[in-house]
Amino acid sequence: MKRNAERLVVIGNWKMNPTSVGAAKKLLIDVRKSVGKLKNDVVVAVMPPQPYIGELARLLPGGRILLGAQDYFHEERGAYTGEVSLPMLKSLGVSLVLVGHSERRARGEREEDIAANVRVSTSRNMITVLCVGEHKRDSHGSHFTVVESQLKTALAGVVKTKLKYLMIAYEPVWAIGTGNNATGEDIEEMRLFITKVLTDLYGRVPASAVRILYGGSVNEKNAAGILAASAVDGFLIGGASLKVKSFSEVVKQTARHGIA
Ligand code: PGA
Repeated sequence: MKRNAERLVVIGNWKMNPTSVGAAKKLLIDVRKSVGKLKNDVVVAVMPPQPYIGELARLLPGGRILLGAQDYFHEERGAYTGEVSLPMLKSLGVSLVLVGHSERRARGEREEDIAANVRVSTSRNMITVLCVGEHKRDSHGSHFTVVESQLKTALAGVVKTKLKYLMIAYEPVWAIGTGNNATGEDIEEMRLFITKVLTDLYGRVPASAVRILYGGSVNEKNAAGILAASAVDGFLIGGASLKVKSFSEVVKQTARHGIA
């Protein structure tokens, strides 16, 4: 399905990889070369581990690739050992943050922490990618109930005028890192459902500003099929974002589905 070219986004979530700053620099330089060759307007971002962000920002002066953080803590400063705040990330050149990834939820991140993060980062005009998704599917459609509840809780403090800073990544947990991606049809059904929940909460026009991405075992082999069957605005990619060819191939395929 075609969608407006300016909405398209591909984000690489490097998770806790690679294991040294040297390897991270090499990976980013290779991604930069490979994506730089492609002539398209897809917004491309990578989310490296936080300790590497400062070094990596120096390798991205042109802004063709944006830097994102995989998490942050919603207070600005103070006695919060081990935490990293939004102003700190901004000062390093970070322009988007991931919130509520299922791997963080699994390690105890609470709904109220997620809601606080989404509220604070959108209110500070930081692009915020909120992850939602069910653990499993059944024949009763419980995945819709799960996603609706995650959206409503996470967005409780987000005002209409800040929706332009929000993206939703639909990431069914069973599809993450398993090689079993959701089908384009299932993704489209969920995309429409998410749009409906947002429209009920905020109205049609503000809701339409929110880009909806898919994540879960996306790679260069399945991206085109998903884009053909669903009008998602792009992808959040884990494993395949560490492979330069796969990642840039997904960017290329995504660009083909935009109308200028
Ligand atoms: P995956 O991860 O592409 O390796 O399935 C996606 C994610 O967790 O964001």
